[in-house]
Amino acid sequence: MYRYGEEEIDAIARVIRSGRLFRYPGTQQGDAEAEAKLLEREWQAKMGVKHACFTTSGTAALMCGYAGLGLGPGDEVIVPGYTFMATAAAVVAVGAVPVIVDVDESLMIDPAAIEAAITPRTRAIVPVHMKGLVCDMDRILAVARRHAVPVVEDACQCIGGTYKGRRTGSMGDMGGYSFNYFKVIGCGEGGMFVSNTGDLYARGVIFHDGGAVFRLYAGELNMPVFCGLNLRGNEILAAMMRVQLARLDGITADAHRLRHIILQELDGCDELTLMPFNSGPEDGTGETIGFRFADESAADAFAAALAEQKIGAGRPINSGKHVYANWEPILERRGSYSAATNPFEHPLNAGVRPDYRPDALPRTLELLRTTVLTGVNPDWTEADARRVAAGIRNAALRLAAPAGAR
Ligand SMILES: Cc1ncc(COP(=O)(O)O)c(C=O)c1O
Repeated sequence: MYRYGEEEIDAIARVIRSGRLFRYPGTQQGDAEAEAKLLEREWQAKMGVKHACFTTSGTAALMCGYAGLGLGPGDEVIVPGYTFMATAAAVVAVGAVPVIVDVDESLMIDPAAIEAAITPRTRAIVPVHMKGLVCDMDRILAVARRHAVPVVEDACQCIGGTYKGRRTGSMGDMGGYSFNYFKVIGCGEGGMFVSNTGDLYARGVIFHDGGAVFRLYAGELNMPVFCGLNLRGNEILAAMMRVQLARLDGITADAHRLRHIILQELDGCDELTLMPFNSGPEDGTGETIGFRFADESAADAFAAALAEQKIGAGRPINSGKHVYANWEPILERRGSYSAATNPFEHPLNAGVRPDYRPDALPRTLELLRTTVLTGVNPDWTEADARRVAAGIRNAALRLAAPAGAR
């Protein structure tokens, strides 16, 4: 979260003063005026989707997305080896099995690796737009169409990003966002799932609301209500998120403007290789710039040289649970609190044998070791952006110089 203040405080106070702290005020009333409903409508308009549902977290949103597709035991779901573990853990939470595949030089899921991993059991593909960067959606959607496999877009780290003008999260069959503290906009904890397909959305909504059976909206659903959980976002945070959503375009516009300045300043610096980007420079959220290096030690030295100049940067291999090799509960097949509920022990999953060795994806590990990512803070001044660019250039020139001249 970059920006929050008095407007959020006022929005929260307004809800508390109203005394209406629950989305569904009574059994005979709908939620037409609820903050959550208004947020969902505003989200639909901003992201260009037909349906949106406010949830307690991004993990919850992804679970609803997977549930919306009817995923469960016996199903394989393709996820990238570079994403927060929750992308894969949410697959396990609905009883299915994540199949982890390579990313490419853009650090996003490799469309060729997706295609190579598809089997008759594959029931979903999950492209994850990491760090405000975007996946190669044209190729991914083409693979998905070719094999008739649905796509769940994990846009938790890319709220407000675009891909060729379309909003991240809006291009797949389902999309999920996180509003936790570390995201572009947020409310501490929260999430949203979206879809353009009524049936998928309805299944996700029932799953997220254990009270669906006695809600007025149950009458509008075209399927019987099954037992759900309670993953409903609350009114106080919905009010805060409405303010945050109104800030979104300003945040991404500022990040893009500053990123553009940095890239312009670095133009012609032959010592640097930019990480490839899957769409135009105006796409994504503008929060990240990546650099590629020939080997690990060059990348490490560059990251250290930036750190020396107080420029935040790092190699994604060091990003903990964002690297599949560190997803111990999944790698060790501890899928639940008991053997009976562990999807990895489920008879329908017996034929699913994913490769969970920590070194199963050497290419992904190598790319994560040899790339350096640096962030663009939308709240910087243009002078800050120029200082950062100068620091990046200095580091590159210094490291390119012969050892004795450094
Ligand atoms: C790519 C990705 N997917 C899913 C999640 C899960 O979101 P949450 O923490 O809101 O449950 C996160 C959160 O960090 C994430 O970065």
